[in-house]
Amino acid sequence: MFSDVKYVCMGGTPKRMEKFAYYIMNEIGCKLPAGTTLLDISYQSYRYSMYKVGPVLCLSHGMGIPSVGILLHEIIKLMYHAKCKDPIFFRLGTCGGIGIEGGNLVVSESAVDGLLQPFLELPVLGKLQRKPAILDKKLAYDLKKIQQLDDPFTITVGKTMCTYDFYEGQGRLDGAFCNFTETDKLAFLRKIHEENVVNMEMESLCFAALCHQAGIRGAVICVTLLNRLDGDQVTASKETLNEWQEYPQQLVARYIKKNMTHR
Ligand code: URA
Repeated sequence: MFSDVKYVCMGGTPKRMEKFAYYIMNEIGCKLPAGTTLLDISYQSYRYSMYKVGPVLCLSHGMGIPSVGILLHEIIKLMYHAKCKDPIFFRLGTCGGIGIEGGNLVVSESAVDGLLQPFLELPVLGKLQRKPAILDKKLAYDLKKIQQLDDPFTITVGKTMCTYDFYEGQGRLDGAFCNFTETDKLAFLRKIHEENVVNMEMESLCFAALCHQAGIRGAVICVTLLNRLDGDQVTASKETLNEWQEYPQQLVARYIKKNMTHR
């Protein structure tokens, strides 16, 4: 059932990935038999959603490193047992831009943790294991290259800071707790910006580390929901956010369409 999978596309929420499944189905011209709909293959697990559209597997991964890590273990095993040949993994997500306005794309060139360390630290059998968080640079720049003049977004390739938390972990002052000031926050954001960090999200470190360990090419494409140098709260309207969240999908669909015939 899975041996023809060439592209694995994952994103945070089940609904967004269901929408992507229908979108990619249309884009690659995959047809369902009359009167049928796509099936959430993992609907009985209640953990995540999974749709297969020809060579594309669409999955939701939930929020944060533990959630995406468990999913990746299971999907990497699936790829292995199904004998899939050189699948490419994409994470399509949202992020906070650092010096980038809302509604633009960032393709991660590399991922670092909240201390700017380029590896995932995982306690295993009572010892800390370090897994290098390395992404495929060529794939990142190939995604940038397919930008079109009439795209409503810019594409920045840069370093992504992956945090363990949305609030204190990303230097927000509007969580339940906060023991730092606006000045402290801005000093930190400006410091990491000088170190070429262009966005913050919560999954790329683990995604990069597990793809690299498995020898799988992987890319992280996120749309910025705000510029963190201007504030903490996401203030764009629901309609605007829905439109922005389609941008990573449009870029990945374009890449898949362009490369499908050669693979
Ligand atoms: N996702 C994040 O992790 N941070 C943001 O600021 C926005 C989306």
